[in-house]
Amino acid sequence: MAEQAQNLRNFIRKDRGHARVIAVTSGKGGVGKTSISVNLAISLAEKGNRVILLDADLGLANVEVLLGLNSIYNVQHVISGEKSMAQILVKGPGGVGVVPGTSGLSKLADLSVKARDNIMAGLKQLQERADFIVIDTMAGIGRSAVAFVVAADEVILISTPEPSAIIDAYGMLKTTYQKRDDAVVRLVVNMVLNKKQASLVYSKLSNAAQQYLGRKLSYLGMIPRDPRVSQAVMQSHPFCIRYPSSAAARSVKDIADRLINQRAVAGPGTDSFLRRFAQTFGIPSSA
Ligand SMILES: Nc1ncnc2c1ncn2[C@@H]1O[C@H](COP(=O)(O)OP(=O)(O)OP(=O)(O)O)[C@@H](O)[C@H]1O
Ligand SMILES: [Mg+2]
Repeated sequence: MAEQAQNLRNFIRKDRGHARVIAVTSGKGGVGKTSISVNLAISLAEKGNRVILLDADLGLANVEVLLGLNSIYNVQHVISGEKSMAQILVKGPGGVGVVPGTSGLSKLADLSVKARDNIMAGLKQLQERADFIVIDTMAGIGRSAVAFVVAADEVILISTPEPSAIIDAYGMLKTTYQKRDDAVVRLVVNMVLNKKQASLVYSKLSNAAQQYLGRKLSYLGMIPRDPRVSQAVMQSHPFCIRYPSSAAARSVKDIADRLINQRAVAGPGTDSFLRRFAQTFGIPSSA
């Protein structure tokens, strides 16, 4: 009986160990990655999921600033081996576990083997403890930024209706597919005036994807331009908690529902994110 209970516990642990790793990316900076990552993570947690928000964005308006958190330890302490990933996790709003970022993440390509082992072990710990890992990435196509995008199970690509954002989103899409043939990318159009404008952006990008890359781009949703977003930022509160009935909050909740209901991948193994992440840096897959 005791043995059975143990087996059951192992089974539950194993069964719940398949965190979906979702990278939020864009070509152009300032299009809303951090705002969307934070509020999406909270919306997923509000629906009963265990969610980790990994801050891989080293811009000024990063996850910690947006949440009014002030942590002592960050990923650098995991990389150096001083702390485990569990020890640096900060409890954020809505019960989201936040992994504070560091500029060290931008130098992933130059890390020693030991340091890379440490970060790999840390990411594995996260994957075993969460249902979703949402990664707020840096804009652009630098190697470390793209590593998370290429490794993730699913990618959310953010664009706004601005032509430069659309062009750069296409560039990011192209890079992603060049590096990973079977990437699963879905578009969110942020700061739109209305649904029609969002559809137009989607048509442009999906047509270009089809014509020049031979790929389908899926549509995940849109978020209107909403003054509540910046008002909430000023108060260091996520808008979906501070202004839950705002248009932006309702849109993010719809996106969270769609994500929960439409798993975009057939069935990622627990280790597939880690394996792809390791491959990007030439680390043996057993790491
Ligand atoms: N839907 C929206 N409506 C109004 N303002 C928005 C919306 N989404 C984001 N913003 C504002 O746009 C600015 C940039 O947002 P954010 O920092 O989330 O972008 P980012 O893509 O993470 O930027 P970076 O590339 O610098 O990391 C912020 O001031 C934010 O408040
Ligand atoms: Mg950001």
